[in-house]
Amino acid sequence: MINNILHNRVMKEVIIESKLIVYENLEQLPEDIIMLMEKAFKARENAYAPYSKFHVGAAILLDNGEVITGNNQENASYPSGLCAERTAIYYAGSQYPDAKINKIAISAGSTSKINTEPIPPCGACRQAIAEYEIKQKESIEIYFMGEKGNVIKSHSLANLLPLVFDKTVL
Ligand code: THU
Repeated sequence: MINNILHNRVMKEVIIESKLIVYENLEQLPEDIIMLMEKAFKARENAYAPYSKFHVGAAILLDNGEVITGNNQENASYPSGLCAERTAIYYAGSQYPDAKINKIAISAGSTSKINTEPIPPCGACRQAIAEYEIKQKESIEIYFMGEKGNVIKSHSLANLLPLVFDKTVL
């Protein structure tokens, strides 16, 4: 797509669209997603976030039925810390290299205020999840929310990261 843009001599505008589904609350989602999100809530409790006080939990459902959870792990040397989504996905990749990732549920919240808006995964986590979606050639459903309130569903990671940098350019 980038090549098409750059090689076209005439300037043109490209519109990129993403479709997301917004649910008013968790109860509107199917039972398996509620259970996955509840595991993300539980994982959030073990976040180690003494610096930001922002706790994130992620739960990943694999095609073999396993659920892998992760939370953010911070460090006095700030950049050495890691987000919940990458903690979970790298663990999944290291323990179950042949399993496909079907769904990821993410919940985030601060100890200083209640987040009721959906908190999307950061750019670095989107890039990490994209790697696995491309590797497995099957979409990963992403669900994210704050501590309560609206839940957003994206039917794939690609939807959250247009113009992804991937292995095809290497
Ligand atoms: N964080 C995550 O765990 N996931 C994200 O997608 C965004 C941010 C963590 C990193 C850091 O420990 C804290 O939230 C504040 O940025």
